[in-house]
Amino acid sequence: MLCLGVSGGLDKVHENSLELPNTFLHDGAAVLVRDGRVIAAVEEERLNRIKHSNKFPSSSIQYCLASAGIQLSDIDHIAFYATEAYCNVMLERLFLSQPNISIPVDAKLFLRNLLMREFGTEVDPSRVSFVSHHLAHAVSAFAMSGFEQSLILAVDGGGDFLSGLLALGSGTEITQLATFAEHNSLGLFYLETIRYLGYGLFDEYKVMGLAPYGDPAPYRGLFEQFYQLSANGEYRVYLDRIGPTLLRSIQVRRKGMPFTQQHRDVGASLQEALERIVFHILRHHREVTGMKRLCIAGGVAHNCTMNGKLLYSGLFEDIFVQPAAHDAGCALGAALMMSNDFGRPAPRERLQEVYWGPDLGSDLVVEQELNAWAGHLDVERSDDVAGRAADWMANGAVIGWVQGRSEFGPRALGNRSILADPRPVANKDRINAMVKKREGYRPFAPSVLEDDAREFF
Ligand SMILES: [Fe+2]
Repeated sequence: MLCLGVSGGLDKVHENSLELPNTFLHDGAAVLVRDGRVIAAVEEERLNRIKHSNKFPSSSIQYCLASAGIQLSDIDHIAFYATEAYCNVMLERLFLSQPNISIPVDAKLFLRNLLMREFGTEVDPSRVSFVSHHLAHAVSAFAMSGFEQSLILAVDGGGDFLSGLLALGSGTEITQLATFAEHNSLGLFYLETIRYLGYGLFDEYKVMGLAPYGDPAPYRGLFEQFYQLSANGEYRVYLDRIGPTLLRSIQVRRKGMPFTQQHRDVGASLQEALERIVFHILRHHREVTGMKRLCIAGGVAHNCTMNGKLLYSGLFEDIFVQPAAHDAGCALGAALMMSNDFGRPAPRERLQEVYWGPDLGSDLVVEQELNAWAGHLDVERSDDVAGRAADWMANGAVIGWVQGRSEFGPRALGNRSILADPRPVANKDRINAMVKKREGYRPFAPSVLEDDAREFF
């Protein structure tokens, strides 16, 4: 049983026929699952070089097929990461607002036409499904958690006219307990605030990184006007109050302007508000359901400060965060949902690794690639690559480290990573300036061998 999960946009790369904003249908990806196990997965941005690509993930699908040595016609089921009803409403809006383009107001037909155009294969309508966006997020976490039972929180900016859900996972079943309305979106709560700190969509993690440099106290009272916690783990957020209040109360930071302590403090208050709301929701459902474990997914679950606080709070005995918590992870969830529906559930094992992307290839392939850059690179062979790299780093070099298959999701986990010596404090600023061309405050993850962790932490 081969199931292909797909996320992303509806027009091809180098085309913008639908004039979709890049805020819509982002994080395109394809994930191929065989009998409940992932055999290939990649995000379109890694292949078309457009961050958070909102294009149809043609190259990702192509990669999945090639890595399994199959054709699109061999796939038993293809699942798209939103409901058919939601997709139809979106197509209807496009149809009405763009009279110059001819599109079917029928999501299934639209998707099949797109696959036909890209792969030259007629896909039977019975083999195409649309799944609930937030259930796909939920499944992407729970099915990989190894938990027999768990509370599941899917929380993001929005999708399917919702901004999240709470569910209970048990074995291969997921039961929905509550949904969060679009106007209560915690993703949008964060996004709406960071606009006044000179940031926009997909920059949320930068403000999470800025927050520890601030003090939440000065703006705590202000932020308390932006949300309300009520009984039964319910909450409201007032997105419309954020802009006018911040404009009146702070010296807003416009893109590129320097940061002040005020901006850091607002970042800290925002982070605190998010954590308070999420703790409020989870405390209630932890108590009512008695669940001792938690799975989290959805874009907001990339807030690792929040995740860390949840983990160390002791509210749950164990927490599993889907490493591809953003919408690319919905492609994974969608594929697993289909596989489950057709009697091939994911094995109940804890996820061990996410090296599901394109392989570096054989020594010969690497050599051919390097030869293509002859005259621009000095190439040296070494029998002790790790030792040589360690020497370089100890001498101040910053290293691009590449091995095996690429990671699925935004975290560089050792197969496509930038490495440097974590000991000199100056290295953080150096790498930020030199490689990433990013703000000096942005953090890096130190890593050490497990056996040596106590010596360093
Ligand atoms: Fe999402």
